[in-house]
Amino acid sequence: MSEEILRTEKLSKSFWLGGREIQVLKDVTFNIHSGEMVSIVGASGAGKSTLLHILGALDQPTGGAVFFKGASLFEKKEKELASFRNQKVGFVFQFHHLLSEFTAYENVMMPALIAGLYKKEAEERAFQKLKEVGLSQRSGHRPGELSGGEQQRVAIARALVLNPTLLLADELTGNLDAKTGEQIQELLIELNQRYHMTMIVVTHNKTLAERMPKRFQMVDGLIFPLQT
Ligand SMILES: Nc1ncnc2c1ncn2[C@@H]1O[C@H](COP(=O)(O)OP(=O)(O)O)[C@@H](O)[C@H]1O
Ligand SMILES: [Mg+2]
Repeated sequence: MSEEILRTEKLSKSFWLGGREIQVLKDVTFNIHSGEMVSIVGASGAGKSTLLHILGALDQPTGGAVFFKGASLFEKKEKELASFRNQKVGFVFQFHHLLSEFTAYENVMMPALIAGLYKKEAEERAFQKLKEVGLSQRSGHRPGELSGGEQQRVAIARALVLNPTLLLADELTGNLDAKTGEQIQELLIELNQRYHMTMIVVTHNKTLAERMPKRFQMVDGLIFPLQT
């Protein structure tokens, strides 16, 4: 069996609104091993984004635990958590969040600069990643000069620039037309096959969800395995 990358134990998350507790995650327990491709589907409001944010340490749970390679994520010091966010996970969102005044390769190299790599090395990595996502020809373009699919490729390259252990994707094809969405799907599968990239993909896209070997559904803050 391959190495366990991530495990949650009775993960819960509540928000307080107007003195009322809203339980968005309830006892979410699941795990994912190295190289696995996992999809999570579920109705809007089921808690998918909340879960992904916690797995990427962008938010804190109110109960339970997340273990990354066996170590409890939220027992880490803030400095370690920051480097976890920067180096161990890559995040891709529905809206790419690229910086519009920077070129594709400048956007991609940003996490590498934040991690303290020399500019030259960060640049080399950025060009390499843009090549891997099929965008070598567009590295000098700004986001506004790229199509929606190309922008998502840049966002994927940026998420991968430090070779993270885990890629978290939240509705990354949600804003794309069917054909472009399909090309992005192919890219994810290729990245998994070529680099053994472990990924969790939250999606409304049935075809994309079904192409992932391990599948979950979220219903009202709970997670269920789907039959394969
Ligand atoms: N910061 C917040 N404060 C209060 N409620 C929130 C907050 N973030 C999310 N929620 C609520 O949590 C529920 C799940 O949201 P979300 O995780 O975004 O669902 P999904 O991604 O599955 O559509 C929703 O009812 C949403 O309104
Ligand atoms: Mg969401």
